[in-house]
Amino acid sequence: MGIETKLTKLKGKELSELPKEAKAESKSNSTSNSIGSRSRNMSKSRQSRRTRQRQKKATMLSPVQRLYDTCKDVFAFSGTGIIPSPEKIERLRAVLDEIKPTDVGLKPELPYFRENASRKNPAITYLHIHECDKFSMGIFCLPPSGVIPLHNHPGMTVFSKLLFGTMHIKSYDWVVDVPCDTSANVDSSETKQPEKQQQPEVRLAKVKVDSDFSAPCDTSILYPADGGNMHCFTAVTACAVLDVLGPPYSDPDGRHCTYYLDFPFANFSVEEVSVPEEEKESYAWLQEREKPEDLTVDGDIYSGPKIVEK
Ligand SMILES: [Fe+2]
Repeated sequence: MGIETKLTKLKGKELSELPKEAKAESKSNSTSNSIGSRSRNMSKSRQSRRTRQRQKKATMLSPVQRLYDTCKDVFAFSGTGIIPSPEKIERLRAVLDEIKPTDVGLKPELPYFRENASRKNPAITYLHIHECDKFSMGIFCLPPSGVIPLHNHPGMTVFSKLLFGTMHIKSYDWVVDVPCDTSANVDSSETKQPEKQQQPEVRLAKVKVDSDFSAPCDTSILYPADGGNMHCFTAVTACAVLDVLGPPYSDPDGRHCTYYLDFPFANFSVEEVSVPEEEKESYAWLQEREKPEDLTVDGDIYSGPKIVEK
């Protein structure tokens, strides 16, 4: 608003300082061009009316519809390893940052979030909002102590918005400048074994995040090769996370969800791989595993505001 005011004042000043001839010429031009300028003005006013209508429509959209519409645009050219432009990423982040639990029909009193003392690993519920070949939107509902084990997002850009509660996130990225090891050995000093023992393949990863997050907090974003592409969620309290994946998991397209175990750096010794003592805590060995048997994710119907799919 300040800039606009300054510009108006400057224009007024410049016009009053024009020589008389120039003013006359300017007046004559404005008369001869009056029809053209009137039609330009009409078209401008039509354009601004259309812009106002679009803005009004945008403000009338439900937050989840706005999220869907934004995803549709942001992931229009989605594919394995394709990262949307920084401008698009920021636009989607801004939409997600504004979303509240009630915008997706959630409240902490719902049964999904109830503590179940009889289960060591309480069931998690996934509320599916939308999935197409470009992106997916859904909500993970975790009761206290619920865990989504360490898993990856191959070639994907992932937005996670904590809607309520407190959650511990631990995430890793691969260390790319060390050999992918197929013959790691268990360090005998760690395991008290007399001989080094052959182990399945492990790969070195660096810790990206290892912290508790409490809503409201910023949307976290991970990318195909950084930002913590492998992550594990642990519910400190009951919590809900809105997840947007672009593109979504797809076995035929090679985007398979893999689960991992993580081991301290000191547990394995691998030739040519060394890390300064003070940084060892920041590294871990990841080893592929089957989907954990005690992981239960129940799908349920999303019952928040409907979206109109386009
Ligand atoms: Fe994930």
